[in-house]
Amino acid sequence: MGVKKAVIPAAGLGTRMLPATKSQPKEMLPVGRKPVIQYVMEELEAAGIDQILIITGQKKRAIEDHFDRDSELIRNLEEKGKHDLLCTLDYENCGVKLFYTRQGIQLGTAHAISLAESFVDNEPFVVCLGDSIIKSKEPGSFLKKLIETHEKREASVTIAFQEVAAEDVIKYGIADPFPEHSDNSDFRLRGLVEKPEVDEAPSRMAISARYVFSPRIFKAIEETPMKNGEYQITDSIKILMETSEVWGHRLGPDEKRYDVGGFKSYFETFLTFALEDEEYGKDLGEYIKRFVG
Ligand code: UTP
Repeated sequence: MGVKKAVIPAAGLGTRMLPATKSQPKEMLPVGRKPVIQYVMEELEAAGIDQILIITGQKKRAIEDHFDRDSELIRNLEEKGKHDLLCTLDYENCGVKLFYTRQGIQLGTAHAISLAESFVDNEPFVVCLGDSIIKSKEPGSFLKKLIETHEKREASVTIAFQEVAAEDVIKYGIADPFPEHSDNSDFRLRGLVEKPEVDEAPSRMAISARYVFSPRIFKAIEETPMKNGEYQITDSIKILMETSEVWGHRLGPDEKRYDVGGFKSYFETFLTFALEDEEYGKDLGEYIKRFVG
């Protein structure tokens, strides 16, 4: 597998999650026992990525602190014999090298990704939005398939899609696939429609926070027009679509996207992961039954 580098945009203001995100990054919100961005990091590592650039910004220092070696904490846990906890904090030996750069002004996802140009050094690369988790039976397996599709189709961009309910298409970027270029898992895109009305949606396939890009995306980002004060990566992809092939790869039945972008999805995400907690999940389920009952 040729793709070894990934970028995590994590510099957004997180306004939909205020006041929770006033002074802490949305990407550091806990989901069960871990902050969201740690799941993203673990997914990338499991998919064989070995270098990750995290795009941070103001009030995002907690992300760097989280992945730093904390000698005092390690000494304290060693003294107390808490070896299980020590293992869960061992990011240094996880086989991934982390890099950071800052987005000074939050000008959108395309602008955040443009800051990775020298890091990716003319190679294809993965982008994982830092506020979304992809859960699959085998960690990292969805990303591996996304990369395989990208390589097999010789695409300029390959995008993850998840089928959503008809009433939810209005919340997402929706795929307009070529019917003649589709199989069970992959489809070539002829367009992307931003937040369509249900009767105007070309499909129910929603963009799902994971992408593989060829370095050609940087030229497209330069040509992307600003809309509502931001450069959106969907608009850059549409520019590339005019001259090259953009493919979609859908999440399978055992794969699901969870995001912490708004409170409804955050609560659902937290609850799902907490209910699956080996130690407390069962009791929490009982508590919820009693509470709701
Ligand atoms: P969102 O658009 O959902 O995040 O970006 P946001 O702007 O933080 O959220 P709201 O709308 O104000 O609530 C998805 C991901 O892209 C990053 C975010 O940090 C998030 O992880 N992002 C977004 C950037 O890195 N830079 C940006 O300029 C915008």
